Amino acid sequence: MSTNKELIGRDEVNDLDAILAISNKDVDAVVHEVRSNYDTIFTWDYDKGQRPKLNRLYEKAKNSMWNGETDLPWETEIDVESLAALQMQSFGFQQLELGGTVFEKWGEKEFLQLGIESQAWALSQFMHGEQGALICTARIIENVPWIDAKYYAATQAMDEARHVEVFAKYLDKLENHYPVNAHLGMLLDDIIEDDRWDITYLGMQIMVEGLALAAFGFMHQMTTEPLLKQLLRYVMSDEARHVAFGVLSLQEVYENMSAGELRIRQEFAYEAAVRMRDRFLQQEVWDRMGVDPKEAMALSQQSPYRAEFQKMLFTKIVPNCKKLGLLDAGDAWLRHKFEELGVIQFENWADTGEEYEMFALADGEVQSA
Ligand SMILES: [Fe+2]
Ligand SMILES: [Fe+2]
Repeated sequence: MSTNKELIGRDEVNDLDAILAISNKDVDAVVHEVRSNYDTIFTWDYDKGQRPKLNRLYEKAKNSMWNGETDLPWETEIDVESLAALQMQSFGFQQLELGGTVFEKWGEKEFLQLGIESQAWALSQFMHGEQGALICTARIIENVPWIDAKYYAATQAMDEARHVEVFAKYLDKLENHYPVNAHLGMLLDDIIEDDRWDITYLGMQIMVEGLALAAFGFMHQMTTEPLLKQLLRYVMSDEARHVAFGVLSLQEVYENMSAGELRIRQEFAYEAAVRMRDRFLQQEVWDRMGVDPKEAMALSQQSPYRAEFQKMLFTKIVPNCKKLGLLDAGDAWLRHKFEELGVIQFENWADTGEEYEMFALADGEVQSA
């Protein structure tokens, strides 16, 4: 967790130079190793349903499997330009005066290319995050002590395999991939290096998946590309269960935790939030477009639309942290930090402990079901 300490000690969390100094230096690597040393826990208590909410989630998951290979219309021809145009809007440049900036001489062609790159970048990061989820849920099967949670995590590992598969397949159709963003990669490493099982849950189920659920929802709502829309619909129906799994499991653990122990969790949640915010600056896209990332980011940050978009990513995380008691534990450290990040206003939005029913696929919605 050495990287976290650096972050907490960073004087100015909004310093673009400090953010940009972190980049993926190993873009050609095929594998990435993370060392961790955690206890694998057997339980001899096989009494199913001791935690009825987890059991219900498990039963639900067993009947909600879809097949990434056969349930999506992969033959669909993707209209790359309309996909890119929508993505382009999220930068908010249309609201800004671009005279005197690096974009002054840009025409439609360049902005379109930016949208294409940004779309491929976003989907690539989703794919890498999904692999993180696959690995974390495999870990949870091993180190959570409750049989109901082990059962549920096993279904989630299958879900995540499917998610990695469909994002990879979609990116193959776009013929454009990006390596993992350094901020996301560091967050995944931090989660996996930690030997405490509740931190695996907090990092993955609450923070990474909470953000993913909000980001998928936004993209699902915006996109008119039928294959991506369908893909995101299926993935979201699973993700809502995954975030519920985190909330339902951790509530019990954090209820009985001391303020000192909770403070460590508050710090972890905040660090994860900052890393995820920083990953959305898309520095690799600017590099590929030949634009100084700092200039582009500074300009994009001025757009009220962009600022709103970035905050929307926290609509699931903040209420879930509140439900877990993390916002106000001790001296409300996390509340103050979320205030600084400008995302505290979501604290009373719906938490995702029960919301998964709303996202569930209807009968007949999956082609082969
Ligand atoms: Fe997933
Ligand atoms: Fe997930």
